[in-house]
Amino acid sequence: MERTLIIIKPDAVQRRLIGRIIQRFEDKGLVVAGMKFMHISKELAERHYAPHKGKPFYPGLIEYITGGPVVVMVLAGYRAIEIARMLMGKTFGYEAAPGTIRGDFGSSKTYNLVHGSDGPETATGEIALYFKEDELLDYQPASGEWVSKPDEV
Ligand code: RTP
Ligand code: MG
Repeated sequence: MERTLIIIKPDAVQRRLIGRIIQRFEDKGLVVAGMKFMHISKELAERHYAPHKGKPFYPGLIEYITGGPVVVMVLAGYRAIEIARMLMGKTFGYEAAPGTIRGDFGSSKTYNLVHGSDGPETATGEIALYFKEDELLDYQPASGEWVSKPDEV
């Protein structure tokens, strides 16, 4: 099953949206493979957001993601990366469609509630930043393919 790294960012934690955000991912068929509640250090934030270093919004982004506790999760499932990004919506809240997490809970540019890996290689690298392999659990949810069915041939 595909895995993706999701972060419930400091604004969402402060706004007590943890449960409602996780619910959306679970409703769509993704399962939690690992989870921790933590405060991201400046060093870890700089590694995570290294691709954005040098961009005008980079200092604010580091300040934001280190500004309070976050929930970091690995979600697993069929097409997990693409499905999670779809549920999150476009990067800026004011552009994100209603029905998405970012579209429903805010309209800010930087404070956009969630992070999700943007591709298979990014996902592998980001998961390794936050989790050891033995912190991730592989299991079949009881609902199985009734909720999340792979393409048929
Ligand atoms: P993320 O990495 O957090 O899942 O978000 P994303 O792929 O949708 O967006 P990305 O381009 O990777 O940007 C990373 C985060 O930086 C903040 N940002 N601010 N003020 C700005 O112009 C600006 N642009 C990006 C957002 O918090 C975004 O999620
Ligand atoms: Mg990104």
